[in-house]
Amino acid sequence: MKQPSDETSHKNGGPDAHDVNGNGWQVLRRRVNVGLIGLGYWGPNVLRVLTEMDDVTVSRICDLDQERLHKFCRRHPYTIPTTDFRMILDDPKIDAVAVATPVESHFELASQSLDAGKHTFVEKPLSATVREADALITLAERENVVLMSGLTFLYSAPVRAIKELLQRRELGDLYFISSSRVNLGPYRKDVSVVCDLAPHDFSMLLYWMDEFPTSIRAIGKDAITSGIPDVAFISMGFPSGVVANLEVSWIAPSKLRRTVIVGSKKMVVYDDVSPEQVKVFDKGFDYNKPEGFGEWQLATRTGDIVIPRLDSSEPLVSELSEFITSVRSRNAPRDSLRLSRDVVKLIEAADRSLRLDAERTAKEAPRRTANLIAG
Ligand SMILES: NC(=O)c1ccc[n+]([C@@H]2O[C@H](COP(=O)([O-])OP(=O)(O)OC[C@H]3O[C@@H](n4cnc5c(N)ncnc54)[C@H](O)[C@@H]3O)[C@@H](O)[C@H]2O)c1
Repeated sequence: MKQPSDETSHKNGGPDAHDVNGNGWQVLRRRVNVGLIGLGYWGPNVLRVLTEMDDVTVSRICDLDQERLHKFCRRHPYTIPTTDFRMILDDPKIDAVAVATPVESHFELASQSLDAGKHTFVEKPLSATVREADALITLAERENVVLMSGLTFLYSAPVRAIKELLQRRELGDLYFISSSRVNLGPYRKDVSVVCDLAPHDFSMLLYWMDEFPTSIRAIGKDAITSGIPDVAFISMGFPSGVVANLEVSWIAPSKLRRTVIVGSKKMVVYDDVSPEQVKVFDKGFDYNKPEGFGEWQLATRTGDIVIPRLDSSEPLVSELSEFITSVRSRNAPRDSLRLSRDVVKLIEAADRSLRLDAERTAKEAPRRTANLIAG
């Protein structure tokens, strides 16, 4: 990676407020100036969190929708509104850009932002394809700027607590993980339910398991809009032998955000919508050695249920704080960027598997109808 030059520091608002640290990297000392693109459902959360940070100014906001733009301008009168994101990129006072637009626009907006020398935060998923993710990572390295993508759940207390349990091997040997992320909507017309909801589960699985799946299969259905899968069942196998199953859906009678992790010693239920988000069950099977020539016996074990105390900080606050800290020190969070790329790889693989399954089902459908009529 190239060293910061006067040219790159000028692109980010001038060298005046930078110190050079021991490694020769420039550390930003003044308030970080951020431009935010996208004020739909999620963008306002990013705006709220950034504006509440002591050392950040959101000096420009952008959305194609004039009405939304003006609504947020009334609430934040010091920010300059625009419908053209290039106004943000052309502003030399802007250090960093946050992109909270639909995924199909991530590559265009993020690549132009990086190319303009802006540190860039892109909401999940990083991009629509792995090829785009790789191009963004290369561009960030070339421009010597920070690139980070949203992995909000990895900053949440329950997900971190489960990681610690796994690191301490409290669950014994892991057998399987099973997860449901379903609700009635919100329905998206631009991407599959996999691209919308599964990034959260994919990121958690990669974080917990510390390994990439060797197999992934998905079946699903486009029940509401033809060509847009709105329910999917995804199965994965990991090199360690652990298997995982995810159910993601926009069509369900109630909201479920539930993951079950089963090991040889203990089991965990992580319910993100429950007041007791993590429960550790001392349950399983014990192997009883035969006495004499008798057969071996399996006895169920039902011990204590432990509910760990979790801190209640907002994950988005921790995530965006890490981005701002990275911008200040220019230390890109490399592990999280690799994980964001792997999430895109899993989305691509699951969507491909869904398409293949849909094609096979479509081919077999006339045959099945004929069999029904004949039979
Ligand atoms: N981290 C999380 O938990 C979380 C939760 C929800 C959504 N998200 C992510 O946030 C992003 C946005 O999702 P959303 O649900 O808010 O979408 P949305 O459709 O509700 O809003 C997107 C907004 O972006 C604007 N927009 C689109 N293209 C633009 C452009 N070129 N220039 C300026 N504005 C543009 C639209 O006008 C709209 O207001 C997605 O990447 C999504 O995956 C993350």
